[in-house]
Amino acid sequence: MTARLPRRRVLVALVATLVVLAPLGWMWQQSLVPNGLAPMDMGYADYGGGPAMSMAHAGHGRDLSKLVAPANQAADVSVKLVARKESFDIPGRGPMKGYTLNHTSPGPRITAKQGDLVEVTLINESVPDGATLHWHGVDVPAAVAGVAGVTQDAVMPGQTFVYRFVAVDVGTYWYHSHQLSHEQVKDGLYGVLVISPSPSDVIAAVHTYDKIRTVNGEYGERRVSAVPGSTVRVRLINTDNGPMAAWVDGAQYRVVAVDGTEVNGPTLVEGKSVLVTAGGRIDLAITLPSGAIRIGLGGGPTTLVIGSGDAPTGAEPGASVDLLSYGKTAALPFDPASADRHFEYRIGRRPGFYDGVPGLWWTINGHQFPKVPMFVVAEGDIVRMTVQNKSGQVHPMHLHGHHVVVLSRNGVAATGSPWWVDSLNVEDDETYEIAFVADNPGIWMDHCHNLPHAAQGLITHLMYEGITTPYHHNGPTKNQPE
Ligand code: C2O
Ligand code: CU
Repeated sequence: MTARLPRRRVLVALVATLVVLAPLGWMWQQSLVPNGLAPMDMGYADYGGGPAMSMAHAGHGRDLSKLVAPANQAADVSVKLVARKESFDIPGRGPMKGYTLNHTSPGPRITAKQGDLVEVTLINESVPDGATLHWHGVDVPAAVAGVAGVTQDAVMPGQTFVYRFVAVDVGTYWYHSHQLSHEQVKDGLYGVLVISPSPSDVIAAVHTYDKIRTVNGEYGERRVSAVPGSTVRVRLINTDNGPMAAWVDGAQYRVVAVDGTEVNGPTLVEGKSVLVTAGGRIDLAITLPSGAIRIGLGGGPTTLVIGSGDAPTGAEPGASVDLLSYGKTAALPFDPASADRHFEYRIGRRPGFYDGVPGLWWTINGHQFPKVPMFVVAEGDIVRMTVQNKSGQVHPMHLHGHHVVVLSRNGVAATGSPWWVDSLNVEDDETYEIAFVADNPGIWMDHCHNLPHAAQGLITHLMYEGITTPYHHNGPTKNQPE
């Protein structure tokens, strides 16, 4: 066949094909995530304008697996959690195939008092891909952050892992697997953790299993009793991938805590919803009328009714509480104006390959995972970070091991109560300036908590000078944090 075509035409066609294919092949090859990638060996070190420090590598530096709670402190709260792949029941709906902890999803509620040493033993009986437990929002020591491939190996069937940490900060938190989390969390491997609750507190952990939205694992209108005239604290927890509006029909409320931190001078809210970031928590204080009230949870059939008798029904209010200006201002415990480092976390999206798969992929400062910046800090640094979203979708950004305070949104300075978060809803086209103190040495994920987005590469790490980890992505135990 080629004999009939003029040689030149064949050559031209061949060259043209190569011109198109070679860069594509190169891009494809470049996008492959190396097997056994160490978190310290991702894209490039970003020192945020602070002094460059030598990045430690395995064998030189402090191994994060040594960063643990005091070994001689006895446990005040001891919990054993057995993870299984099995069916469980969603009251009001029926059976669901997924994962359980001690045969339930959500897993057992864990409560502790401030200062308690909490010890949780995870036993993986039958989760085939392995599992871990991450303490979302709790500033635990690095060795028990529960991230497969970063702070530990995934706990495989038949294996056990013990998490120990001191419950330093009161508040509403949750826990979940951080191995294949986009699948395991959705399918049930999560639970509630509250530090220093009072007996009258109401928990409303919202979770969507396979399009079925539940509260505390139950579907439809759910009821809890309470004393009329009393003030209850409702702890809202959003364990889903997207933001959720919550509101109260039949009473006013105050937003008394955000992501575990008390709000300063919370004012009464009426006719507004409050947004609960994916992964985030909002505590409401509600003084109950004589009849029942209803908490709206994103619309849809699942709601929480508090009290007895008929509860009012309402639609989602048009307006929502703006935490940038809610409550009373107060001094911060550090001065963001004297920051040691300024990082940019610019989220974009572009066509290309990710691990050899073509698609539209997230970028951080123009780079795709794993070629993303590693934000490097020294212990004690005051850090500012600008989080900018130009990607066309909302991203709930979550930094492990630290609480960050919001300084501004789209150039408008915060004027309300100090707005501390661990999960921040960053809409498309929004820019937040946040700040924190680097006071918890380790290697900490800083990722989108829309977990499929994280699995698509919207993750990076906050690294402390001199800290190393012996763990790897993939590797013998198939660590896949997202
Ligand atoms: Cu809720 Cu990286 O976690
Ligand atoms: Cu996202």
